[in-house]
Amino acid sequence: MRSKLVAGNWKMHGGLAANAALLSALLTEIDTLPCEVVVCPPFPYLAQAQQVLAGSALKLGAQNVSQHPAGAYTGEVSVSMLREFGCRYVLLGHSERRAIYGESDATVAAKFEAVLAEGLVPVLCVGETLADRQAGETEMVVGRQLDAVLARLGVAALGCGIVAYEPVWAIGTGQTATPEQAQLVHAFIRQRVAASDDEVAAKLRILYGGSVKADNAAALFGQPDIDGGLIGGAALVAEDFLAICRATGVSSS
Ligand code: 13P
Repeated sequence: MRSKLVAGNWKMHGGLAANAALLSALLTEIDTLPCEVVVCPPFPYLAQAQQVLAGSALKLGAQNVSQHPAGAYTGEVSVSMLREFGCRYVLLGHSERRAIYGESDATVAAKFEAVLAEGLVPVLCVGETLADRQAGETEMVVGRQLDAVLARLGVAALGCGIVAYEPVWAIGTGQTATPEQAQLVHAFIRQRVAASDDEVAAKLRILYGGSVKADNAAALFGQPDIDGGLIGGAALVAEDFLAICRATGVSSS
C-alpha cells in the first residue's frame, strides 16, 4: 500500500518571522500526523528551515531547480546546493513555471534527470488548463507531460519520483476538482505508467493539488488513486495545513 504524503508549496510567500512561527506550529504536531509531511519554502529560507527542522520528521523540499550542475547560469540554483540545505524533494514543472517562465516538457524532463542524479526525489507537476479541459484534451496534455519524462529517462526513473496532478484551473481559484474528476485523471496517470510497468505504477505516489482545503481534503484523499496533496494557499496557515495532513488518516482504512 502506498503511504500518503502532503507537501506545502509556499510559492513566493514568507519571511523570517512568519516562517519561524509556521514551522514551530507544524513541529508541535508532526509526530501525531498520519502522513509524510514536506514544506517547500522559497530558496532564501531553506537554511532557516533546515535549522528549525533538524532532527524532526518534517521534511524539506524546494520549488524549482536548474537542470545544470554548475556554471554560468545567473540566478539559478543547482540540485547539489539544495542537497546541502537539507532538501529531499524538488517540485518540477509547476504550472506557474511552465506558464510564466516558459518551461517546456523537455526542460522539465532534464530537471527530473538532474534531481535523480543527486539522489533527491523529483515531484513532477502535470495538469491541464481550463481551455484544455473544455476542448476535451485533459488526457492528451497530461499524457504528453508524463511521456516527456518516460521517453527521456524510462519508467523506472519515473517511479523514483512522485507525480502531482494540479489542474491549472483549480490552482488558487477556490474551484477544486471534485474527488471524482481528480480520481479519473489520477487513474489515467497510473494506467499510462502501467502501460510501461505495472509494478512501478502500483507503487507510484500521485498527489492532487489545486484549492485543497481542510473541508475538501478527506474526500479527495479517500479516492483510490489519490495519495496525498500538494497544497498552496492553505499551507501558509498552520491550522489549515495540519487539518489537511490529518485528513489523510480519515480515508486510508
Ligand atoms: P492552491 O492550493 O493555492 O490552489 O495551490 C495549489 C498549488 O499550486 C500547489 O503547488
